[in-house]
Amino acid sequence: MNIDYILPNEWSILEEGFDKSQATASESIFSIGNGAMGQRANFEEHYSGETFQGSYIGGIYYPDKTRVGWWKNGYPEYFAKVLNAPNWIGIEIKIGDEQLDLNTCAVSDFSRELNMKEGYLKRSFKATMNNGDQIQVESIRFCSLDLHEIGAIKYSVTPVNFSGSIQFSPYLDGGIMNEDTNYDEVFWKVLDIEDRDNDAVILSRTLKTKFYVATGMHISYELNGKEVHLPKTVHEQEKRIDYVSKANLNQGETISLIKFGGYSQSMNHPKEQLISQSQKVLYQAASLGFDTLLGMQKKAWANIWETADIIIEGDVKAQQAIRFNIFQLNQTYSGEDSRLNIGPKGFTGEKYGGSTYWDTEAYCIPFYMSTKDKHVARNLLQYRHNQLGKAIENAEKLGFKNGAALYPMVTMNGEECHNEWEITFEEIHRNGAMVYAIYNYVNYTSDYKYVPEFGLEVMIAIARFWHQRASFSEYKQQYVILGVTGPNEYENNINNNYYTNYLAKWCIEYTVENLKKVKEEFGADYKRVIELTNLTDMEVVNWLKVADAMYFPYSEKYGVFLQQDGFLDKELIPTSELSKEDRPINQKWSWDRILRSCYIKQADTLQGMYMFEDRFTKEEIEKHFDFYEPLTVHESSLSPCIHAILAASIDRMPKAYEQYLRTSRLDLDDYNHEVHEGLHITSMAGTWSAIVQGFGGMRNFDGVLSFNPQIPDEWSSYSFKINFRGSTLKVHVSHEGCTFTNESEMPAEIFVSGEKRLIKKDELVTV
Ligand code: BGC
Repeated sequence: MNIDYILPNEWSILEEGFDKSQATASESIFSIGNGAMGQRANFEEHYSGETFQGSYIGGIYYPDKTRVGWWKNGYPEYFAKVLNAPNWIGIEIKIGDEQLDLNTCAVSDFSRELNMKEGYLKRSFKATMNNGDQIQVESIRFCSLDLHEIGAIKYSVTPVNFSGSIQFSPYLDGGIMNEDTNYDEVFWKVLDIEDRDNDAVILSRTLKTKFYVATGMHISYELNGKEVHLPKTVHEQEKRIDYVSKANLNQGETISLIKFGGYSQSMNHPKEQLISQSQKVLYQAASLGFDTLLGMQKKAWANIWETADIIIEGDVKAQQAIRFNIFQLNQTYSGEDSRLNIGPKGFTGEKYGGSTYWDTEAYCIPFYMSTKDKHVARNLLQYRHNQLGKAIENAEKLGFKNGAALYPMVTMNGEECHNEWEITFEEIHRNGAMVYAIYNYVNYTSDYKYVPEFGLEVMIAIARFWHQRASFSEYKQQYVILGVTGPNEYENNINNNYYTNYLAKWCIEYTVENLKKVKEEFGADYKRVIELTNLTDMEVVNWLKVADAMYFPYSEKYGVFLQQDGFLDKELIPTSELSKEDRPINQKWSWDRILRSCYIKQADTLQGMYMFEDRFTKEEIEKHFDFYEPLTVHESSLSPCIHAILAASIDRMPKAYEQYLRTSRLDLDDYNHEVHEGLHITSMAGTWSAIVQGFGGMRNFDGVLSFNPQIPDEWSSYSFKINFRGSTLKVHVSHEGCTFTNESEMPAEIFVSGEKRLIKKDELVTV
């Protein structure tokens, strides 16, 4: 994508002029959602050019049968695909006899806006038909934050240079396919189509998974802003229903179609009641009316921005980018439902299955924890607790026993569905992130009760896994973990990945520490958990043998821990010596060449140093950063944020800023040439962390909240807010200094650049 395609603006994503070659990229970037459902910014009217149609519903998936060349025992049977859902946005338009299609008519004055402050998508353009008739079109669309099952569209057409007829065919279409399928199968079966006065509903069911979804629409019209009734003919086909109406307009008059639509689904209602539920919410939306619902939307977004906003002065592109990241994260996950999670592509594409990865625990939790009430992060933890049984089954399939759990690399319902052996079987570090997230949550929120209630069971099952997965090396007289893939997926089947070994040891020790604490402070829960898990003292003693004698590869020569046993056998040539033609290596080199190279896809050893920074000295972090970063190609969207944070912590602000830029405008400037496939939602949380933890230096170890603020030369100031244990703190950083304001009743104790401060209600402390 052309780097200047998206116009800079503080609160909006703007596109001016219609460029067909950018159509699919824009469909991703302008995506909208409300946590329960979301969609790509496809046009409402028919478009015969290149397009990637996508509408998605949280939690609804299809088990697409695994397709691999060589089946290996232990492979999951299926890959859970997020499903392209029935289309409720479609509106076909005819001017006289000609269909409106931006691919075939002449388009001028095209503009598109994603208004992030108020949460809607707006498009306007002029279209000149083949006979010279010109119309002005404006459409506004949003997914309601207040009515989760409702989206709304106001689609207005004005004849500019003629008087004549305009035909609208708003429709629902249940005959939808996925872009991403293994066997080109149809995933939906349409069961029923109901048609009443102004609303229609299609009831469909997903094949195999049997999710039931009622997709509805409610239609009304306004002429020059006043409600009018247009007679309609109903066209019903096997999987689609159209309401066809015609308006005869004088030149300059505006006819608006108001379409409420959306999904009511069987995760939330009994399937027998879905049609009536859909009719009920459509009626509710129609009674409120488009403008009232849009007004509510603006208020709901104002509430979100109240704590989540980051204000950057002196750099409009940086301001736009951080708001875009925060906006998309909020569109993807609202935090009210512990059965939902944050797919790496959210509701903006199909690749990565829309499913849950370790990204949630390792990258997203800090964002949701700091910008929302603590129950949101708790729900994310709860999601994994809900799936503990499946994680135990996953481990059993691979030969582990006695309640050991291996959380999946990719999942929708707890079952593993990744099917590349080097990741499914080997990228086991993900298990550690589950425990780390609990540690992070408890540290930040002080909601320790989560541990006895739910967390301890998860920890025990994971400690069991690490104990069984490690093996004793007679030669080294230490425990080793063989045949793994670390976060750096550019080397597989390696031995003793430092990060994995570190997490394994830490998980065991942290579990034992919590067993003691729960025993002392939550006796009843302790008893329940011990009975449930059949944990014995002897088992714990054996776990600790592994933790106490864990092996970590280390190089005396470089004074660094090694990413894996064989790392120094590689030819170490810094990425600065790679030519432009070689990058990105995952598109330019054979896989074999990548695996043998020293190049690192994303933070690996450094990922551990970021997570456990309090256990390393600044000099150690500096040494490791200088060893690994020059070998890192950052070809995962999750990479630059961690490097930005660490660079800032070792006072390398230019490097931190360089890495920040890569993460913050990754999608807006399409660095990886793949934005047409969807947005990188989970790494957006990393961008937030790059500012708050990177430049702001916010840390939270041992229950202490500390800051070490710095500011990039390119900005004049920035500010952010965080929720911390009942208080809301605003941090403002400029080149002159830094102020902390406590906007809540609860006083907050913080450390700023090593000094302790108590900040009371409404107090402003300048440092
Ligand atoms: C990264 C993984 C990540 C996945 C989904 C991959 O490219 O290497 O760490 O979990 O993308 O975001």
